[in-house]
Amino acid sequence: MKHPKRHTVTAALIYANGPIHIGHLAGCYLPADIYVRYLRSKGEDVVFVSGTDEHGVPITLKARNENTTPKAVVDHYYGMIKKSFEEFGISFDIYSRTSNQTHHKTSSEFFTNLYEKGVFEEQESEQYFDEKTGQFLADRYIVGTCPNCGNENAYGDQCERCGTSLSPTELINPHSALSGEKPVMKATKNWYLPLDKLQPKIEKYISGHSEWKPNVFGQCNSWLKQGLHPRAMTRDLDWGVKVPLKDAEGKVLYVWFDAPIGYITATQELLGDDWEKYWKADDTKLVHFIGKDNIVFHCLIFPAMMMEHGGYTLADNVPANEFMNLEGQKISTSRNWAVWLHEYLEEFKDQQDALRYTLCANAPETKDSDFTWQDFQARNNNELVAIFGNFVNRAVVLTHKYFDGKVPAKAKIEPIDQQVLDELSRFPGRISDSIEAFRFREAQGYLIDLARLGNKYLADTEPWKLIKTDEARVGTILNIATQISGSLSILCEPFLPFTSKRLEGVLNYASEGWNKAGVADLLKEGHQLNKAALLFEKIEDETVNKQIEKLKAPEENMEEEDNVTPQKETINFDDFLKMDMRTGTILEAEVVPKSNKLLKFKVDTGIDRRTVLSGIAKHYSPEEMVGKQVTILVNLAPRKIMGIESQGMILMAEDSDGSIRLLQPDEVTDNGSAIN
Ligand code: MF3
Ligand code: ZN
Repeated sequence: MKHPKRHTVTAALIYANGPIHIGHLAGCYLPADIYVRYLRSKGEDVVFVSGTDEHGVPITLKARNENTTPKAVVDHYYGMIKKSFEEFGISFDIYSRTSNQTHHKTSSEFFTNLYEKGVFEEQESEQYFDEKTGQFLADRYIVGTCPNCGNENAYGDQCERCGTSLSPTELINPHSALSGEKPVMKATKNWYLPLDKLQPKIEKYISGHSEWKPNVFGQCNSWLKQGLHPRAMTRDLDWGVKVPLKDAEGKVLYVWFDAPIGYITATQELLGDDWEKYWKADDTKLVHFIGKDNIVFHCLIFPAMMMEHGGYTLADNVPANEFMNLEGQKISTSRNWAVWLHEYLEEFKDQQDALRYTLCANAPETKDSDFTWQDFQARNNNELVAIFGNFVNRAVVLTHKYFDGKVPAKAKIEPIDQQVLDELSRFPGRISDSIEAFRFREAQGYLIDLARLGNKYLADTEPWKLIKTDEARVGTILNIATQISGSLSILCEPFLPFTSKRLEGVLNYASEGWNKAGVADLLKEGHQLNKAALLFEKIEDETVNKQIEKLKAPEENMEEEDNVTPQKETINFDDFLKMDMRTGTILEAEVVPKSNKLLKFKVDTGIDRRTVLSGIAKHYSPEEMVGKQVTILVNLAPRKIMGIESQGMILMAEDSDGSIRLLQPDEVTDNGSAIN
């Protein structure tokens, strides 16, 4: 797009079921904020909208795990998330939420619009239903045995042990995650967006954007190549935006239908009637900042919805990032392997920019990246403190020392001065180009290069040596050093907004916008500077060691146990006595052909010798199993798995990550000993 008249910038509506961590910041919110701050500094007309996504199974499951209501969950996290973004300087024009009335209205009108145009396909199908709770069991509401690996806790959409993607009807022995009951089949009607039929239009849109980042463009094309399928835009749930149709009692919009419309709602809340030109004008540039797991929704499904609605401008770019790891491991909420924003803000007061700088320097722009506390410390101390802070400090302190803090006049311009001024003038354009191409790491790198240039200039000209003999020459040097400092305050603002404010305070100068940066007379001769102040604080070994210890402390990691399966419903003693559990010894063990999960055992149960299958090949080899004493449920009805009949079940402990250990008596006992 050549010269957009205005910009609409969105940052993903994060699920309101947990706090913000550095992965969210590096992947989405920080680059979005840098981009928007830059546009504002350029004097562009821009709105920056975001908020929380408060519907969908992630919210209701969190509520269930915490024994509370979805409303309580989203209220809690909305407040917390909004506050931490504010304190971190993410400068949304509005931070909204999808549970509010405006959003329910806007998203249901959007649905009605498509419905009335006949866009949806109505489809009745048989789905599992929990009679006890009166709920249909989609996605994670249904649990059963994986047909592929025998994991008994596979979900209706996926087996987390073997990674197979499943549909509820493929589960063996399915039961409700809510009540534990065996579900029945019940017919239900849903409304589908026929993405298969819309594929040509979507393809045309995507193929017009080969300039998108390769990871984004590539992922879109791989989905298109596989062929799109109709996707249900409604769900049989009670938490969400009610489906605005007569025959849709007990149904809500699919969370991925309503959530992106939340960007539109937020703009409406912000601007009233003025919202339309930010969404419906050809000269508006729409950019979505997201993480890579959201690509299909923002690049294919939401555009398809907008096309079918008509009147909307489609996204001009979707600069999705990859993921950021932490100390070499995947960030994990359940293991508390994360740096939480609200904790950082508390523990590192007034050091937002140190984190902003490190996250941007390490942003996962082209591939997954890694955050380490040591790198955080090194970047802060060796780059922000030693280069940026040091340069500005020297320029300001020397100007006070020799010229009472007044910007001195330039005398004769020497070649080295001209060279530095020429270099300086090229920085704003260079940084702009990188930002506009969504290369924020590179852009921030140039920013530090400018401070480096300043440092080198002072080191080369050595004004502190010349002051005795040539005060006029020193005036020229410090004038130029002050100009560089002034430009730094403008150019660093998108990346380091807190530093920019501090620096403006020191320089006694308020930014007049990006286009002023790079000029040779930003701060006029005679302009009074304020006293130098510390821009960045050095970070000590002790501080980062404390963070590393905290990360690795097992007690800390125990705090968030939201992955532990909730307790099942109460049973009576007779129910318990029905289970006949014994000790037994593994006599033989082998891998089941064509399965990399299942092992087949011959077990001496004390009663007999029988065949038992178990999905533990990922955790134990056949060789190490032979001779082990195990515990076994012997009166489980025989089941055929991959054509082999299994006559019982070996008992195991499985943790939330799916790793498995055998349950064994603590000393060898006679086979056939009863367990009770
Ligand atoms: N809630 C989703 C997530 O956290 C993101 C939704 S983005 C929006 O992954 F498009 F729906 F707004
Ligand atoms: Zn499986």
